[in-house]
Amino acid sequence: GICPHSIFAMPLSRGHILTLLSRQWYATTRVGVRSLSTSAPSLPSSSSSSSSSPSLSVSGFHAGGESLRGQEVVVRGWLRSARVQKSFAFLEVLDGSSVKGVQVVVDADILRDAGQSWVEKQARTASTTISQAGDDLDRDDFNIKSILGTGSSIEVVGKVVESQGKSQGSEIAATHLNVVGECPPTGYPLQKKRHTTEFLRSILHLRHRTLYNSSVARIRHRLMSSIHTFFDNEEFLHVHSPILTSSDCEGAGELFKVTTTDGKPFFDKDTYLSVSGQLHAEAMMSGLSKVYTFGPTFRAENSNTGRHLAEFTMVEPELAFADVQDVMGLAERMIKASLSAVLDRCADDVRKVVEVKAFEEKDKSVSADTHLEKLESYTKANFERMTLEEAVAVLKPHNKHFEEAVTEETFGTEHEKFLAGTVVDGPVFVYNYPKGEKPFYGKQNDDGKTVAMFDMLVPEVGELIGGGQREDRLDALLDALKAKGVDPSLYEWYVDLRRFGSVPHGGYGLGFERMVQFVCKGINIRDTVPFPRYPGHCPF
Ligand code: 4AD
Ligand code: MG
Repeated sequence: GICPHSIFAMPLSRGHILTLLSRQWYATTRVGVRSLSTSAPSLPSSSSSSSSSPSLSVSGFHAGGESLRGQEVVVRGWLRSARVQKSFAFLEVLDGSSVKGVQVVVDADILRDAGQSWVEKQARTASTTISQAGDDLDRDDFNIKSILGTGSSIEVVGKVVESQGKSQGSEIAATHLNVVGECPPTGYPLQKKRHTTEFLRSILHLRHRTLYNSSVARIRHRLMSSIHTFFDNEEFLHVHSPILTSSDCEGAGELFKVTTTDGKPFFDKDTYLSVSGQLHAEAMMSGLSKVYTFGPTFRAENSNTGRHLAEFTMVEPELAFADVQDVMGLAERMIKASLSAVLDRCADDVRKVVEVKAFEEKDKSVSADTHLEKLESYTKANFERMTLEEAVAVLKPHNKHFEEAVTEETFGTEHEKFLAGTVVDGPVFVYNYPKGEKPFYGKQNDDGKTVAMFDMLVPEVGELIGGGQREDRLDALLDALKAKGVDPSLYEWYVDLRRFGSVPHGGYGLGFERMVQFVCKGINIRDTVPFPRYPGHCPF
C-alpha cells in the first residue's frame, strides 16, 4: 500500500526533518536481532554506531551455507552494485573477505526507512545548523538511489533465505538497512565494470575494493600465514633483523642511505636500509639453530620491470648444521606447503586473478583451472636440481630463443624463465655458480671455481629464491672478502661467527612478492603489494 513515488523520490520539507529527528530513528528497539545458533560458523561480534548485533563476514555467510537459513544476521560492507527497482532493490555487498559478494533483497518500505534515517542522520551530524541541512535536503530530487551507489558503505540486518535466482545459494532478505556512508558517483572512479589493472594502480588508495586487488590481498595473506605455520612446524624461530644497517649484504651497492632530514648522518657509520637480513640471521642462527626473518628489504635498483620493487618483503631462513642440499630441501618443502595452503583456501581468488590477467592480455589460451592444476602438480613433484653447468648444457640447443647465447657467465633472466617455464615446466633449482657471480659469503666448492649457492627458478617469474651454503671457514671467508674488495673491518662481527663455534650452515631469501606473482601466474609485481614503490613512484 505504499505509493512508489513517495518511496523513491522523497521530497522532504523542513517540518518533515524535525519530525524525523524527534522520532529517534536509531532506537535500538528497532533492530531486534536474535542471537545466532551455535551451529553457525564463528561469528565475531562487533559494534558500529547503530547496532551492537553480532555481524557476519561475507565469507562466513558463504561458509555457513544452508545452516544459516532462517536466521537473522548482520552484514556490513561496501556496495559493489545496487539495482533499485520500483518495489525492491538488489544489493551486492562485499567486505573484502570473499571474492563472491552477498546478495541482499530490500523491500520498498525498508528502503524508505533507510532513506529517512539517512536524511535524519545527515541533519543530526551536519556541522551546519539543522535549518541549513533542511534547506539542503529540501529538494525534489532526493532519491534513495543517490545514497545507494557503488561504493556506499552499508549495514544490513536480515534473514537468510534461499536465493530466488538460479544460483541455489542464499541471500539476505533485509529487515533493516543502514546507509553508513554514501558514495556519490561523481568523482568516484570505481564502478561495477572492468577497470584495467594499470588504471587501478593510479588509485592505490581505492583499489582494495575491487575483486582483483582484494583477491590478491587474500592470497598474499594466506601465503604469509602458511609460511609462518610451515616454519613453526619445522621448529624455526621467527626472528627480526634490523632495517637500519651499516652492512651491504649483497655487495651490489643498491643501497638507500639513511640520514636525518637535515641531511646529517645520525649514526657513527654510513647507514642504509637493509637489502637482506641474512647476515644478522646468520648471527642468530649461531646459537638458535633454526631461525627465519620475514620483513621488508630495500633496493635502490633502477629496474623498471614487472619483477622489481624498491621495497619488497623477504623470507630468510638460516639453518645450522646444513649443506646446500639440505637448504634446497627446506625451500622445496616451504614452497609446497604454501602452495597447498593457497589451493585449499584461496582457489577462487587465484581463479579471479588469473581470469583478469588473461582478459587483459587477450589470451584465450589461459585457463584458470589449468593453472590451478599446475600449482597442484607442483605440490606433488620432486623439484629438479641441476648444477649451472648442467643447466647451460640443457639450454644450449635452445639458443635461437635467446637474445644472448647461454653460458655460465651470461645465464640470466631469459634463460631462467625458459628453463623453468619451457624445459622443466615447473620449479627447478640451479646450483654451483661461478664464485665471481655471487656475493662474498658463498661457500667455495672444492673445484676452487664455484660456490655452493643456488637459485630456485619458477615458471612465469624466473628467480624466486636465492640462497645456499655459507662459507663457514675463517680463512676462506677472509680470502673471499679480500677478493671482493670488501673492507673487512665492517664485517668483523660476521667473521667472529667463524672464529667462535662455526658450523656448516645455509639459508635462502624468498622474494615474497615474487611468490605472489608465481601463484597468480605472473601478474605485475606492482599488484602484489598494496602500495608499490619503484623508481619515480612513492606517491603517499
Ligand atoms: O637473490 P637475492 O639478492 O638474495 C639475497 O639477498 C640473499 N642474501 C638471501 C639469503 O640467502 N638470505 O634476493 C633474494 C630474492 C630473489 O630471489 C628475488 O626473489 C627477490 O629476493 N628479490 C626481489 N624481489 C622484488 N624486487 C626486487 N628488487 C628484488 N630483488 C630480489
Ligand atoms: Mg639472486
